[in-house]
Amino acid sequence: MPYRDMRDYLAALEQQNLLKRVTREVDHNWEVACLAKWMYQALPIEERFGLYFQNVKGSTIPVVTGALGASPKSVAIALQCEVHQINDKISNALRQPKKPKLVKVGACQEVVLTGNQARLDSLPIVTWTPGKDKGPYITTIVVTRDHDTGVPNMGVYRTMLRDPNSVVVYLAPGRHGFRNVKTWTDKGKNAPIAWVTATEPSIHLATVANLSYGKDEMEFAGGLKGEPIDLVRCKTVDLNVPAMAEIIIEGEIAPGDLDDEGPFGEFAGYMGHTGKSPVAKITAITHRKDPVFYGYTSQMPPSESTTIQSLMNAGVILQMMRDEIGDQAVHDVWIDLTYGGLLGHCVVAITPQFPGHGKRVGRTIAAITTLKRVTIVDTDIDIRDHTHVDWALNSRFSPQRDTVIIDDCYVPMLIDPSVRDVRGNVIQGSKMILDATLKIDSGPLSLPPKDLMMKAIDVWKDCGLPEFEIPKRAKLRLEKS
Ligand SMILES: Cc1cc2nc3c(=O)[nH]c(=O)nc-3n(C[C@H](O)[C@H](O)[C@H](O)COP(=O)(O)O)c2cc1C
Repeated sequence: MPYRDMRDYLAALEQQNLLKRVTREVDHNWEVACLAKWMYQALPIEERFGLYFQNVKGSTIPVVTGALGASPKSVAIALQCEVHQINDKISNALRQPKKPKLVKVGACQEVVLTGNQARLDSLPIVTWTPGKDKGPYITTIVVTRDHDTGVPNMGVYRTMLRDPNSVVVYLAPGRHGFRNVKTWTDKGKNAPIAWVTATEPSIHLATVANLSYGKDEMEFAGGLKGEPIDLVRCKTVDLNVPAMAEIIIEGEIAPGDLDDEGPFGEFAGYMGHTGKSPVAKITAITHRKDPVFYGYTSQMPPSESTTIQSLMNAGVILQMMRDEIGDQAVHDVWIDLTYGGLLGHCVVAITPQFPGHGKRVGRTIAAITTLKRVTIVDTDIDIRDHTHVDWALNSRFSPQRDTVIIDDCYVPMLIDPSVRDVRGNVIQGSKMILDATLKIDSGPLSLPPKDLMMKAIDVWKDCGLPEFEIPKRAKLRLEKS
């Protein structure tokens, strides 16, 4: 059964010990963020969990963070699959999107606050880099719509609390939310905008995938969920939002209304820039009777943000390479979670069909993404295991022959210090492709044959040695032994 809402998903996580409730009172101005940061800074990935703060100072609304992106396991539970099936799940959902269904009544509108009642200070909005961020930030799904085509878009854009009735939203040029808002404000009209917090996990995950402009993330989310998403019309703006969400904030951006935004701790690990960004006036807050507030933990990687951005975009790249570019030799794609998102390191497994195939795949991925480093390996390498990838790089890769540097490519990322000059201006960046596929038949591997190694496991147990799980890299190596 697909999860009906965030509550169903949180219950599933709790059952698997992947969500911890904090009952002690916490301050959303600093404690929530600092505790979440310790989870990512101190705990190994397999021990991370989501945090459910039940008792938030000055608020009756609990705060949840890290639940979606504690680890690949949390994302697999959100997508109702195993970790190794995440890419397939994403590819299938992109191939079979499901159009959303408009319903008349939505749980997210059990309570409707408009006019003077719609005050953002009624929500426990978190300060994510206490002592450094300009204020509390909403870090969740933002819904906009193209004025001319009517096609909606969902993305996550950091949104600064300005006062109880307005926010400043960082809509980076190039982002689809930016383009959509412009289609209204260029015509002198107010652009409708809405924030969705805590809804079906498939929707949260769909929104961080970089789909091409005009593709509706809600249809992708339906594909991930396995059934159409129920949407309900907003109360004060012309947008549709997930009916089962916990809280919806509705607003409007007036043409030319800008204000200072930032600094804000960014996912690359540095404080993000400050600048003028659009102001949105809040027109309504609607919510369930006993809502939960959700905010993504971002800032210093690894974080919830880098975990979900990496996993979702790896699946999108795999589907694009196979279905849209048409290269069936591309077997699997992984984006390194230690940095994450689309600025980092992507590892791709292929079955090379001709000399130079690895470089060609690397060049294509470098061209269609903002990724800086693309490493190509054979399918006998576990791309999720950096020790195995390093083995391939050490043994199958000759730097002069197998490196491609793509220079002078514009990486429009203000948050990346490697593409800024001393005055802080964005400068040309570069990318690197490392083709670590085998170029010759390297002969047998220096491991005993598989049958002997498997027989030796019984001997191992007889010796009373501690049991182990065979790592995937060892399984792949034994297949070739
Ligand atoms: C926690 C979090 C915060 C993010 N903040 C921003 C942001 O402030 N600005 C931005 O351009 N992208 C941000 N992103 C990345 C975008 O949401 C993501 O790339 C999304 O796919 C963009 O959607 P779009 O391509 O439809 O514009 C953030 C992602 C996460 C998970």
